[in-house]
Amino acid sequence: MTKGAVMKGFMGMQWDGAVPSVELWQACLEAMSPGAHLLSFAAPRTQHRIAVNIEDAGFEIRDSLAWVFGSGMPKGLDVSKALDKELKAERKVSLVSLGRAGQSEIACLPPDFTGGEYMQTEPSTPEAKLWDGYNVSLKPAYEPIIMARKSLDGTVAQNVLKHGCGGLNIGECRVETNENLSGGAYAKESKKDLSLASSYAMPANAGVYVQPTGRYPANFIHDGSDEVIALFPENRPGMSGGGKHKSGHKKGMFGAIDCEHTLYGDQGSAARFFYQAKVSSSERSCNGAVQNNHPTIKPKALMSYLLKLVKQPERNLILDPFAGSGSTGLAALELGIPCILIEREREYFDIALQRLQAHHNAMKAA
Ligand SMILES: C[S@@+](CC[C@H](N)C(=O)[O-])C[C@H]1O[C@@H](n2cnc3c(N)ncnc32)[C@H](O)[C@@H]1O
Repeated sequence: MTKGAVMKGFMGMQWDGAVPSVELWQACLEAMSPGAHLLSFAAPRTQHRIAVNIEDAGFEIRDSLAWVFGSGMPKGLDVSKALDKELKAERKVSLVSLGRAGQSEIACLPPDFTGGEYMQTEPSTPEAKLWDGYNVSLKPAYEPIIMARKSLDGTVAQNVLKHGCGGLNIGECRVETNENLSGGAYAKESKKDLSLASSYAMPANAGVYVQPTGRYPANFIHDGSDEVIALFPENRPGMSGGGKHKSGHKKGMFGAIDCEHTLYGDQGSAARFFYQAKVSSSERSCNGAVQNNHPTIKPKALMSYLLKLVKQPERNLILDPFAGSGSTGLAALELGIPCILIEREREYFDIALQRLQAHHNAMKAA
């Protein structure tokens, strides 16, 4: 693939067709202080090119976070159908009647499908029969977030002293838990070497266990959907901290939660990770105040979590050069962090502006 080559973007969107250029990342790098972090969402198919351009611009690639979700839809090409089309053969159509949602045996239907009729066809040619069941892609279930850093000016300590940045704000991003995180190291009969137990807030002269505020944040984030939760063998809904969150719940782990989903107790391994569902329609439209059709909108709580992660103790300025409908801006507004948003498309620029205004008004009224 040549530099700047245009690929087909998400839902055919022209702005998503090419990955940001090295020059664009260089411009970001120039505006940043040494030790400052960059986070870039990417598509699994093109993440390598985004990462290479970020690296070629002069950043250090530090990590790649995965935001795992259950709501992705398979959008690949059915090889059998393509063969019948190629061979100009008509396929036999069979209408499958569906009743209520959940009765469907067709895996690609969305979970909120409310019933209706689904048209199915059968392979016609011998070639299409041979290739029945073949597709060209998998169901999307995660979005990578590339984490990079502008090179340090000296050591971490020298850099933070000189430039006021260079660390990740682990303390504010710990994943709340009721579980004892000592790992048994402080039990009377424990034979563990406490000097090795450095991952949590254990004093060097340990003997009294100090429970940290939560689990150390991981480079894995999930959406809390039943589909993803089911991947974790130990989950037991309704354990301590478990249950169902109502829409508009005011006391989520990371502030208010604006969507309905199940909470999982600490004994379930999915609870070890920060989770955030995809955007609810009320969040998308700021409770009906704004018409927002942005196809790749991010949840405000996810952006808050990521902003908190790169937030420095004293001086902060967030730059989002791909603002879309302004979710980064909403999160920054809530956290009181100054933020510059850049958006190329007039339509999305207007949506972002309206969402920011509506969110500002809602915050003032609260
Ligand atoms: C993935 S979307 C961002 C979505 C956003 N996080 C949200 O929650 O709504 C990327 C946005 O970047 C914009 N964009 C693409 N190339 C751009 C460029 N060169 N300069 C400014 N904006 C650009 C697109 O119009 C699109 O709205």
